[in-house]
Amino acid sequence: MTIDRLRAHWGFTRMPFAKDLAPSMLHSHRSHAEAVARVAWCIDEQALGVLTGEVGAGKTVAVRAALAGIDASRHTVIYLGNPSVGVRGLYSTIVSALGGVPRFHRASLIPQAQDALATEEHERGRKVVLILDEAHMLDADQLEGLRLLTNSQMDNHAPFACVLVGQPTLRRRIRLGAFAALDQRVALRYSMTGMEPAETADYVAHHLKIAGFSELA
Ligand SMILES: Nc1ncnc2c1ncn2[C@@H]1O[C@H](COP(=O)(O)OP(=O)(O)OP(=O)(O)O)[C@@H](O)[C@H]1O
Ligand SMILES: [Mg+2]
Repeated sequence: MTIDRLRAHWGFTRMPFAKDLAPSMLHSHRSHAEAVARVAWCIDEQALGVLTGEVGAGKTVAVRAALAGIDASRHTVIYLGNPSVGVRGLYSTIVSALGGVPRFHRASLIPQAQDALATEEHERGRKVVLILDEAHMLDADQLEGLRLLTNSQMDNHAPFACVLVGQPTLRRRIRLGAFAALDQRVALRYSMTGMEPAETADYVAHHLKIAGFSELA
């Protein structure tokens, strides 16, 4: 059966379970609502957070929903969706996103990224929100690089909000002794769990409804 016939048969105006859902189309089950609230808190507090969950748990969707709720004129969001770019890629992404041209040598790229982050906050009055998705793939160098960036202040707060988003192995990885200094700075840890049976039924009905099918018995 072609997609078109499938759509016609069920009366779908769009395919259910699509990836391109607007924030208003999201289903607010418990773990989604909790994740959104906690990521929003993390952004507000300029804290370091770790959001984990199995593949497809709704982590990226929840982070996008939290970002949709912040004041865009007062925040600069830097989203890294694929961390396999090395520590240089991490720093370069930050510098470029803040309008700079990344320096070639790593030794000068680190202070450049730190300066760019500080300037964005103190001179432009915008809070930086760094989202590192698929963060279970971050290598040891990158985690250490992230710690260096969070170093410019003495308390538990990073000079920017940062949310590491990834599969459950991320949580264990950061707990390893080698990353103790970073682990200490984590102010929020939330793990998205699966849905309860009733939530699941409601979730499926919700997806069918936003796809245009409303006559579920
Ligand atoms: N709150 C929600 N309401 C409606 N649909 C949702 C919601 N959360 C997730 N989905 C659906 O589930 C799909 C997978 O969610 P998402 O991409 O956020 O998972 P993930 O946890 O980031 O997975 P991965 O580990 O593969 O990156 C989305 O494309 C969307 O269709
Ligand atoms: Mg994801």
